[in-house]
Amino acid sequence: MTKILEMYKCNICGNIVEVVASGYGELVCCGEPMEHLIEHTKEEEMLGEKHIPVVTKTDNGFEIKVGSIPHPMTDEHYIMFIEANSPDKRYVKRKYLYPSEEPEMNLKCACDDVVVRELCNIHGLWTTD
Ligand SMILES: [Fe+2]
Repeated sequence: MTKILEMYKCNICGNIVEVVASGYGELVCCGEPMEHLIEHTKEEEMLGEKHIPVVTKTDNGFEIKVGSIPHPMTDEHYIMFIEANSPDKRYVKRKYLYPSEEPEMNLKCACDDVVVRELCNIHGLWTTD
């Protein structure tokens, strides 16, 4: 059974989908089961430093940067989006990114906390703890 906000990728055509309502069926694309993208949370060798979102509280929200070492933003390797969720997962804000842009997002909100995740086109889905 899928869960809301899970992401799945087709390893044949590259489609990535997000679950907005859960169901029992298996997600299939190009005739094959889609890969469930598991969120990485711990530093894996040196990859974590460039992928785990760094979240800083500001006067009117949060400043979010991808990586304590900025992630590359080249045509071949880049952050596809940054997403901020309320801890209860009732509110979602996503910023799509493109090569040469900065891997960061400013979130205006009166909330006390956010759960952030980002998707690297090569290294997958990463989140704050
Ligand atoms: Fe990456």
